[in-house]
Amino acid sequence: MIAPAPKSEDNILCRCLKVTESRVVEAIVRDSASSVRDVQRSCEAGAGCMACHRRIRALLEAACESATREAAPTSCCTAPGVA
Ligand code: FES
Repeated sequence: MIAPAPKSEDNILCRCLKVTESRVVEAIVRDSASSVRDVQRSCEAGAGCMACHRRIRALLEAACESATREAAPTSCCTAPGVA
């Protein structure tokens, strides 16, 4: 069975595993992924050639910055795989 094509507004972040940016964000927000490895476990993004790891880290950092703005500072920005 062929997977449905992603919505046009949803960018493919991981070309190896065909994972969209919104799915990675969902892994970070819904599944509390705090490292590239956590994202891999949640949605498999980054489990291939690793070319997308920088973009995954950027999303992790953005989520962490957003979280620290909304709440007391946490150590999520220093988690392995984020920095
Ligand atoms: S592009 Fe994500 S692992 Fe290759």
